[in-house]
Amino acid sequence: MLFKDKVVLIIGGASGIGKAAALKMHDDGAKVVVADIDMQKIDSLNRMFTTGENNFMGTKTNISVKKEVEELVALVVSKFEKIDVLVNCAAVTYRKPLLEIVEEEWDKEFAVNMKGTFLTCQAVAEEMVKHKNGSIINVASINGVHAISNAGAYSSTKAGIIIFSRVIALELAKYNIRVNSISPGITDTELANYCFETYSKTEGTTIDEIRRNLSSQIPMNRFGKPEEVADLIMFLASINSSYITGENFIISGGLTLRHL
Ligand SMILES: NC(=O)c1ccc[n+]([C@@H]2O[C@H](COP(=O)([O-])OP(=O)(O)OC[C@H]3O[C@@H](n4cnc5c(N)ncnc54)[C@H](O)[C@@H]3O)[C@@H](O)[C@H]2O)c1
Repeated sequence: MLFKDKVVLIIGGASGIGKAAALKMHDDGAKVVVADIDMQKIDSLNRMFTTGENNFMGTKTNISVKKEVEELVALVVSKFEKIDVLVNCAAVTYRKPLLEIVEEEWDKEFAVNMKGTFLTCQAVAEEMVKHKNGSIINVASINGVHAISNAGAYSSTKAGIIIFSRVIALELAKYNIRVNSISPGITDTELANYCFETYSKTEGTTIDEIRRNLSSQIPMNRFGKPEEVADLIMFLASINSSYITGENFIISGGLTLRHL
């Protein structure tokens, strides 16, 4: 069990990729705290773990608010005494072209995706420095590496997360804290489905048609599963990646292979 007695904090872990990572690490012996803004999903996760093991906690946090992030970190440390692993999965996206996106939408994407990543990394790193140990995994996106229409704000936040992760990897290496980002391609989650819905409206076609079109452009001919991305997160969180820091890992079923 690679995660026995490890304390893992997963932000945005109440659904999709974060939830898959939370469940897998919990199964592998970790003490897991999930922080998310969606209280309904947090409640349903908390109900799954009423076995009395006391090694799971779901809590409501808006990661774009500094005070809430500080309270979250204090809560985790008061319950489990340390934080070994931070996984940043929370994100929002509005699929809008430059000529339509409004300032509030742009600001919200930066507040949650980019500032939220900064706030959690800063607050958690302060704890990790005390123990001279830690692994941080920031979930970026293939859209932070390759251009896609109608995602100027989202893609900019994701490109920002990739370089931010590399910069802090450099700063934190001397404390034995590793920082990596991962860049998933299309992964079958609520967030992806929201994007499919938006495309289907703008293109006047069905969601099924959008799903078929998009999967046919992926060499592996299918979307990723949250559990497959969670496996990469687990590798980067574990001792098995003990000499890897400052890297960005694309996981996309080969989406980046084709030029045209
Ligand atoms: N699904 C994909 O195709 C895909 C592709 C590339 C990257 N990603 C990235 O993977 C990560 C996980 O996304 P997912 O697809 O699992 O989506 P998801 O919507 O299932 O999960 C995102 C979670 O973030 C939470 N969240 C949103 N705003 C928050 C806030 N202010 N504070 C705390 N929590 C908040 C949501 O409630 C949700 O539970 C995101 O960073 C996303 O950008 C996803």
